Amino acid sequence: MADNAPDEVQQWVRLEVVDHVATIRVDRPRMNALNAAIQARLGELARECARRDDIAAVVLTGGPDVFAAGADIKEMVDMSYGDMVRHSAALQAGFTAIAQIPKPVVAAVCGYALGGGCELALCADIRIAAEDATFGQPEIKLGVIPGAGGTQRLTRLVGPSRAKDIIFTGRFVSAEEALRIGLVDQLVPANEVIETATAWAAQFVGGAALALRAAKQAVDHGAEVDLATGLEIERQQFAALFATEDRTTGMRSFIEQGPGKATFHGR
Ligand code: CAA
Repeated sequence: MADNAPDEVQQWVRLEVVDHVATIRVDRPRMNALNAAIQARLGELARECARRDDIAAVVLTGGPDVFAAGADIKEMVDMSYGDMVRHSAALQAGFTAIAQIPKPVVAAVCGYALGGGCELALCADIRIAAEDATFGQPEIKLGVIPGAGGTQRLTRLVGPSRAKDIIFTGRFVSAEEALRIGLVDQLVPANEVIETATAWAAQFVGGAALALRAAKQAVDHGAEVDLATGLEIERQQFAALFATEDRTTGMRSFIEQGPGKATFHGR
């Protein structure tokens, strides 16, 4: 498909697909500051990952040195209230598009994941980080608050008191603390982060794509509603999967060949 983004933005955020695993890589030296063009591009690439049948899972990374040090402060410094009222919906939309990719998404975090960088990592399903990675929502030190989902997604992940402490103080959160509070799921040496995340994503290649989509939507939508409504979301997703070919082959394969041998086609 033709990529109409300007050359510079195409370099700052790249999509690479290898063996059905997509990697969305932010690469804007020195700190991967996420300007408006990058925010929009993240949204475009998220929609491309959602759409393409040849992509089974997604790795989101800033590369081996830094995940992202947040939204671009130099771009925001002279913006007025009106400017940000107009822009903030686009900012959130780019990140939400990542969160809504209906496939497994893993953030591979090296170095700093601060402000919008931490918020971007929060849009993934799980986070694999370097042992020396650093997280934080330091927006308060700029006189603002997280604006790309941090007050909401961080709170849902680690609970309100921990989220408030991190957001109110703007302090840095070490990788060890991030692991302890559930902000991160696995720590590995820095030079193994991307490969570990890619291996996690690769296990879904050839998986039951429609069931994975249903599982993600049931968990994500269910987390926003009361238990009865969540159970109803699950029930409908569960029943709907009985219309898929993957369900038929999955169960027949179990009976004929034993567990875990089915070949799925995402139909
Ligand atoms: N935006 C724009 N430029 C940034 C940046 C950002 N978020 N973070 C770092 N940079 C720039 C620095 O200005 C510096 O540029 P120059 O080379 O032109 O001087 C360069 O990146 C390197 O940064 P430092 O010299 O500060 O490097 P360091 O190693 O001493 O510190 C750091 C690294 C701890 C990440 C520090 O740069 C820092 O604290 N950055 C800002 C973090 C932050 O406040 N993020 C929140 C942004 S607001 C936001 O994200 C809102 C939202 O919710 C969407």
